[in-house]
Amino acid sequence: MLETPRYIMSLPTSLSSLIILISVATAPLAVSGASLTDDAHCGCYLTNGTQAGFFSNHKFYDFRNLPQYAGVPGSVANPNDAANAGVSSQYFNDENWTSVWSIQNWNNSNGARSDASVLMVNSPSNVYIEANGDPNPTSQTWLTLRTQRLPGQSSNQSSGFQSAAEIESVSSGFQFLSMRMLARTVGGSGAITAMFTYRGSDTLANVQEADLEIRTHDPHNLIHYTNQPSYTTDGQTIDQATENATLPDGLSWANWAVHRLDWTPTSSTWYVDGFMVANISFQTPRDPSKVILNAWSDGGQWTGNMSVGDAAYMQIQWFEIVYNSTDAKSKRDDNGPYGRLPLTMTRRDASTGQCRAVCSIDETSDQGQPVMLWASGAQPRNVAGGWAVWVPSVLTGLVLFAMSAGLLR
Ligand SMILES: *[C@@H]1O[C@H](CO)[C@@H](O)[C@H](O)[C@H]1NC(C)=O
Ligand SMILES: *[C@@H]1O[C@H](CO)[C@@H](O)[C@H](O)[C@H]1NC(C)=O
Ligand SMILES: *[C@@H]1O[C@H](CO)[C@@H](O)[C@H](O)[C@H]1NC(C)=O
Ligand SMILES: *[C@@H]1O[C@H](CO)[C@@H](O)[C@H](O)[C@H]1NC(C)=O
Ligand SMILES: *[C@@H]1O[C@H](CO)[C@@H](O)[C@H](O)[C@H]1NC(C)=O
Ligand SMILES: *[C@@H]1O[C@H](CO)[C@@H](O)[C@H](O)[C@H]1NC(C)=O
Ligand SMILES: *[C@@H]1O[C@H](CO)[C@@H](O)[C@H](O)[C@H]1NC(C)=O
Ligand SMILES: *[C@@H]1O[C@H](CO)[C@@H](O)[C@H](O)[C@H]1NC(C)=O
Repeated sequence: MLETPRYIMSLPTSLSSLIILISVATAPLAVSGASLTDDAHCGCYLTNGTQAGFFSNHKFYDFRNLPQYAGVPGSVANPNDAANAGVSSQYFNDENWTSVWSIQNWNNSNGARSDASVLMVNSPSNVYIEANGDPNPTSQTWLTLRTQRLPGQSSNQSSGFQSAAEIESVSSGFQFLSMRMLARTVGGSGAITAMFTYRGSDTLANVQEADLEIRTHDPHNLIHYTNQPSYTTDGQTIDQATENATLPDGLSWANWAVHRLDWTPTSSTWYVDGFMVANISFQTPRDPSKVILNAWSDGGQWTGNMSVGDAAYMQIQWFEIVYNSTDAKSKRDDNGPYGRLPLTMTRRDASTGQCRAVCSIDETSDQGQPVMLWASGAQPRNVAGGWAVWVPSVLTGLVLFAMSAGLLR
């Protein structure tokens, strides 16, 4: 039974046709219903949505089953101690974490945001694994990013300080990606939680950033999406840079939902639970960037003030990303075998880098584990079996072609 990957039907017409033509021309092998596989067998990942794209790398961070690391650190009342606090559990010392994420401890004393009215200090104590205390828990644990307004310790700290959380990717080499998190934001008003790409610059106009920002004082169905900068140094707003999106009925940032950003060469597109909520092509980031998640406030116009003692939390059950990278070390080993095919065939062509094993993280029944959409591009002379491979391949191509012709008429 042959099954067309569902993406092909939802891709823009020209791309669908192209993929189908390529599939036919290169004689797809063993196209069948998408079946679970693993990253070692994937040459690339095709995303769905209006800006579908191919990506070379995949990472999945699962925070749902980590009871051995769970524990809520107490607030660190002194700003210097907050910055210097150790990590909240061994989870954050493991190479699986440290090779990809860096927990921040910078503060806003450099005055980068001129309207800030509160000292903000990022603290490793605000990044922790927490036991799921929900009435009907859908996981054992999650990752929390906490931000908290704490009382001042002396007269020169009368406004207290804002303890904040930020994790940044170690790599600054992400260049186009689709990232998703199953997350919610809860807690007091006056904070921001965010997931974004970031490329800094000394000049505001040259910052490149695709943002998802939740302001805890906003209605629960309002999220701000922006290709920064959204304002100029002389205080003008750049309206085309931002969409203040109202979520479809029933969706709320305070409830668990999958938040997704697709950053492609032409636009930034955001989804909540599969619904496209914003797309911005104006000022789309172009150059290699970091990925950042945070929870913060500085008492400025954008964030508002948190009441002393209040806290807000971004809780994340899992984070998943498919991406291209400019880092040399992330270049995949192109010579790995795939599937049950002969070892002479690889998931990628070693000389051209062409992807021969196309996977998906969308169509999976097991979050985080990819499925194989199709495998193609093999050199027939390398394949044992001859006709046994060619006949089904050509038939598959014809079926795909017929289906697309019917669908695209
Ligand atoms: C990612 O890299 C692959 C291999 O170079 C390329 O084919 C693909 O178009 C890139 N994806 C995006 C979204 O640019
Ligand atoms: C804030 O950062 C500056 C510059 O890195 C540092 O000198 C200062 O000690 C920091 N203050 C706190 C409270 O962390
Ligand atoms: C690190 O990741 C690898 C691969 O997913 C896994 O097998 C290993 O158990 C992880 N280590 C820890 C300490 O979680
Ligand atoms: C308050 O000011 C004094 C003197 O300037 C300084 O030594 C101290 O570190 C400050 N306290 C805080 C919490 O910043
Ligand atoms: C989005 O909302 C912010 C905060 O309310 C506002 O300052 C900004 O002008 C809005 N932008 C657009 C494009 O609606
Ligand atoms: C992508 O595919 C999954 C699985 O079919 C679906 O749940 C999701 O809504 C799709 N997303 C988009 C943006 O089409
Ligand atoms: C972008 O979003 C608007 C609605 O905000 C929608 O009408 C349009 O089709 C979208 N464009 C693309 C390319 O997804
Ligand atoms: C936050 O509170 C400070 C006083 O602590 C005040 O100066 C500032 O204007 C307030 N910010 C907002 C956005 O209301």
